[in-house]
Amino acid sequence: AEVIVVANREVAGALVAEAVERLAGERADAVLGLATGSTPLPVYRALAERVAAGLDLSKLRGFALDEYVGIAAGHPQSYHSVIDREVVRPLHLDARRIHVPDGRSLGIETAGARYEDAILAAGGVDLQILGIGTDGHIGFNEPGSSFASLTRVKTLTEQTRRDNARFFDSIDDVPLHSITQGLGTILRAKRLVLLAFGRQKASAVAAAVEGPLSAGTPASAIQLHPRATVVVDEEAASQLT
Ligand code: F6R
Repeated sequence: AEVIVVANREVAGALVAEAVERLAGERADAVLGLATGSTPLPVYRALAERVAAGLDLSKLRGFALDEYVGIAAGHPQSYHSVIDREVVRPLHLDARRIHVPDGRSLGIETAGARYEDAILAAGGVDLQILGIGTDGHIGFNEPGSSFASLTRVKTLTEQTRRDNARFFDSIDDVPLHSITQGLGTILRAKRLVLLAFGRQKASAVAAAVEGPLSAGTPASAIQLHPRATVVVDEEAASQLT
C-alpha cells in the first residue's frame, strides 16, 4: 500500500475529503464506502465544511461497513444513527441512497446476502474509507476472518468491546455481535483509503502494512489491493520501518 504520513488528523481529513470531492466531480452518483468510529470523523467534518461552502454531494451513494447486532436501529450508538448524525445530515446526503447493514435479528440470516446484492446492484464501491482496530480488524472482521469473506455476522472480540465501551454506558452494553462487510467485500472496492491516528494504532498499522498476509491481522488484506492508500499521523506510523 501507498503510505502517507501527515502532521495531524485535520490534514488527513482534508486530504481524503479532497479525494471524495474529486470523485463526486467525476461522477455525481459515485459510491462511497463509509466507516464509523472516531477515525473518519475528520474526513466527514472536512466534507461538511465543503458542503456548507456550496459543494453538492446529494447524488452520492454510500454503503456503511458494518452495524451492531442486538441494538435497535434507533439506538443513538447504532451505526444507522451514527451514519445519520455524522454523515448524512452534515453532508446533506440523500438518506435513501445511503445503506447500512440490517442488524435486526429478524431476517439476520439473509441480511448479509441482501447487503452484498445491494452493493453489486449499485455497481460496487468506488472509494472505501477504512479505520483499523487495535486488534487489526477492518470493518468488524476480527482476527481469524477469511480474506474471501462476504457480509456476515461476526462476534466482537473482548478487545474491540473494550475499545468501543467509550460509546456506551458500560462495557456490558456493548453488543456482542456485528454484521460486517467481509474482507472479500472490502477488497472488491475500486479504491481503499485506510486512516489511523495515535500510538495505540501503531502496531496494528505496522502489521497491516509490513507484516505477512495473515488472517491474524485482517487489515493485512489491503496488501492484496492494487489501489490502497494508508493515511496515518506520526504516532500511528511510529512502528513502520
Ligand atoms: C467501524 C469500523 C471499525 C473501526 C475501527 C477503529 O465502522 O469498521 O473497523 O474503523 O474499530 O475504530 P476507531 O476509529 O473508533 O478507532
